[in-house]
Amino acid sequence: MRLEHKVALITGAAAGVPGELMGFGGAVAHLFVREGAKVVMTDVKDEVGERAAAALREGGGDARYLHLDVTCASQWENAIEATVAAYGRLDVLVNSAGISVTSRVEDLSEAEWDAELSVHAKGVFLGTRAVIPAMRERGGGSIVNISSIMGIVGSPAAPAYSAAKGAIRAFTKSAAIQYARENIRVNSVHPGYADTPLTREVFAPERVREALLRKTPMRRLGTAMDIAYGILYLASDESAFVTGSELVIDGGMTAQ
Ligand SMILES: NC(=O)c1ccc[n+]([C@@H]2O[C@H](COP(=O)([O-])OP(=O)(O)OC[C@H]3O[C@@H](n4cnc5c(N)ncnc54)[C@H](O)[C@@H]3O)[C@@H](O)[C@H]2O)c1
Repeated sequence: MRLEHKVALITGAAAGVPGELMGFGGAVAHLFVREGAKVVMTDVKDEVGERAAAALREGGGDARYLHLDVTCASQWENAIEATVAAYGRLDVLVNSAGISVTSRVEDLSEAEWDAELSVHAKGVFLGTRAVIPAMRERGGGSIVNISSIMGIVGSPAAPAYSAAKGAIRAFTKSAAIQYARENIRVNSVHPGYADTPLTREVFAPERVREALLRKTPMRRLGTAMDIAYGILYLASDESAFVTGSELVIDGGMTAQ
């Protein structure tokens, strides 16, 4: 029960239906419930998100689903208000919502650039800004921002994605410094290539898959659970002295 008594809000958490391919947010919801947390799963894919939360409740967990477009400040306010109204507190925020546009720089539209920066960089900023008062009220909290290895090294395929993930990495450290004295910890997670609803189609062609495996010393793709366990550590009190750090979970890719 590593998260007993804690309440967590997770963005991008719709893909959490047992028996279907899970994303990081969905897997985190399952792991958090197993470890004693009450979870609020949020996303823009409402039908699948509702099914995912219902499955957790059927298993005896305390989980609910809320619509939350992370690019919209008023929806953030509503989601946090609803969470505190339901559970009386908010201890953990996992920012996992994401999109991915692949393009060469010269073919990248302004709209694609703006969308990447909006969902990732602005979404993480809005979420962090919105949860701070509730966390302060409880005497602290943990914010876990899902960046990527592509926020550390350049993505050969997705320059706007890389820029947006790099923004999350630097913003995380800045927020960590500003709120350290209030015991609000802010850390980033940097997954390598993992099999999720976001990537399954992109990684499906044999030549793409082989190239990814060649780049990964452990010679396999990550699973959502590989990443969820790292997020669990950062969400729990086991990481009480960890803030502004970056946890790389990539099968060794960026060690080369
Ligand atoms: N899968 C990988 O290989 C990989 C690697 C590194 C980082 N990531 C990052 O991990 C995070 C989770 O991705 P995943 O791979 O688990 O896939 P996923 O498809 O399960 O998660 C992304 C979710 O974000 C939601 N979303 C998109 N736009 C949104 C918005 N505006 N507001 C709220 N929700 C929105 C989607 O509906 C989707 O459910 C993303 O930020 C992604 O960039 C993924």
